[in-house]
Amino acid sequence: MRDADKRDRRRERAVASLGEHHPFPHSERDCEPFAVCFVNCVRNTLSVTVADVRISRFQPRSNGVGRFDARAGAFTRGIPKSSQQTEAVNPGKPITQAAGYNDCLDLMHRVMAYRHEPIHSELMKIRDKYSMLHVDVLILVYHFAKLCSGAILEIGAFVGGATIAAALGVRDSGQEKKLIAIEPGGSVKHKRLGTRNILRDLERNLARERVANMVTLVKGKSFKPETISAVRQALGSDQVGLLILDADAAKRRDVDCYGDKFAHGCWMVIDDIYGADANEKITPSRADVDALVAEGLLDPLGFYGWSTWVGRWRGRAHR
Ligand SMILES: C[S@@+](CC[C@H](N)C(=O)[O-])C[C@H]1O[C@@H](n2cnc3c(N)ncnc32)[C@H](O)[C@@H]1O
Repeated sequence: MRDADKRDRRRERAVASLGEHHPFPHSERDCEPFAVCFVNCVRNTLSVTVADVRISRFQPRSNGVGRFDARAGAFTRGIPKSSQQTEAVNPGKPITQAAGYNDCLDLMHRVMAYRHEPIHSELMKIRDKYSMLHVDVLILVYHFAKLCSGAILEIGAFVGGATIAAALGVRDSGQEKKLIAIEPGGSVKHKRLGTRNILRDLERNLARERVANMVTLVKGKSFKPETISAVRQALGSDQVGLLILDADAAKRRDVDCYGDKFAHGCWMVIDDIYGADANEKITPSRADVDALVAEGLLDPLGFYGWSTWVGRWRGRAHR
């Protein structure tokens, strides 16, 4: 109750402050005003306030991540203090450039838009029955599978949650795309999804969701020579347009095993990047992904769900 009262008082103060002018250091003076509508809800009372707002461009003095130029509609990245230059990120440019602010926003927007479409409830059910991933990540897997050109490679299928999401994306693309899932099997203790036989449940779930005929299941560990050759054989001359990497902590090992088959701009969904307490899987996974980004091989687009990194492959040829 006390917290709710405090929150209400903060909201009341925020609304009362409308109409005041709050200058920030380093902000510009000649900025365009625009009208906005504030809706405030305090207990059972709804109040609507219309206000003229001026937002100045803000030029940070420190090495900030960047600034948005509202007039040019472009995001400019901050460069270290020693340099006065700034690097413009053009959203129209292909992926050879670092992913831009607009690419990241576009992806967030798409996830939000999907929440209002029937596929969202379909994917919610898939998540509840078969996946450890957040539904937003399954939405992205679905989206990339629908959008990508080339094959889809999943490493660590478990009982099929992301595999089924990808298969639904392929189905809705109306195109033929290879979907290859690697899984060695075993047993897992898990409150919701525990199993004594991963492969048995994976095959049963793919059949139950009527996608078994779309999936080439490679049974084995990703780095074993026989697995690598089975995947290469299944791929043929196709390149990978979407990688779903959710196996163990050795992210770089798997990128090294299959990197030569990734298409330039291949969508990448990599799990185990964040956790409240850095466990033995997250710390090395994160270090691998950070290093691949630092080397210019991966291009980040965002972080989704509980622990998932999303981005694109820039490719060794473009280093
Ligand atoms: C966290 S689960 C994957 C969860 C799944 N993405 C989902 O939607 O719920 C990790 C899976 O990776 C598998 N795995 C572990 N090491 C692997 C490896 N080297 N190659 C392929 N799969 C592996 C495990 O057997 C396990 O089923």
